[in-house]
Amino acid sequence: MPEKLDIVTIDGPSGVGKSTVSRGLANRLGFVYLDTGAMYRAVAYGLQQAAVDLENEAEVKRFLDGMKVELLPPGRPDDDVRVFLDGEEIGGLIRTPEMGMLASRVSALPVVRKKLTILQQAMGRNGKIVAEGRDTGTVVFPQAAWKFYLDAAPEERARRRIDQLKARGEQVDEVEILAQIIKRDRDDSERTIAPLKAADDAVRIDSSRLSASEVIEQMLEVIGR
Ligand code: C5P
Repeated sequence: MPEKLDIVTIDGPSGVGKSTVSRGLANRLGFVYLDTGAMYRAVAYGLQQAAVDLENEAEVKRFLDGMKVELLPPGRPDDDVRVFLDGEEIGGLIRTPEMGMLASRVSALPVVRKKLTILQQAMGRNGKIVAEGRDTGTVVFPQAAWKFYLDAAPEERARRRIDQLKARGEQVDEVEILAQIIKRDRDDSERTIAPLKAADDAVRIDSSRLSASEVIEQMLEVIGR
């Protein structure tokens, strides 16, 4: 049996609280937090800015070969990771519902998945990371020592996303947010490569009635710390 890696993976649908939990868990463990969704969002943003035709695989590949995505730790522990595309900080531009939808579309392209999976595996080669996404336990780090699958009812996830957007002072169409969450999860689950699903050896946690700190405590118990 291949050796287990010193890696925690947290997969699950959108709006389930993965980012808050992953960041908090990484802080508690002294691990690096790897936000793989931010990488898909950065690529979606770059492809949109460069007006690349998503149907044209050669053009998408050329874009991917020339781009550089970097993630840097935030200045304050509770902030989102800092995301750079070709040296430009784009974190504020990619964390919108629209970019989430575009990232979902872009993430179904095999060339994009191949490129980002390789980058993510390189980022995790020294272990000691908490990786968050849709396929981190199944495809990116199948040898991770600790795998979690976080879930919650769509209505609860929509409510959290709405609160998050409102806290940022944004206008929100609540019906639209729920519809987007349902569509994005369906698309992410039904795509042929690396679909959203729990790894067979993942511990499932339903976060509907749990706070982020309660989820983190449950995870620390499983990890044995
Ligand atoms: O997690 P986040 O909402 O930032 O992810 C944006 C989109 O990127 C997801 O809806 C999904 O389509 C894609 N994604 C993915 N695989 C990952 C992480 C994100 O396909 N590991």
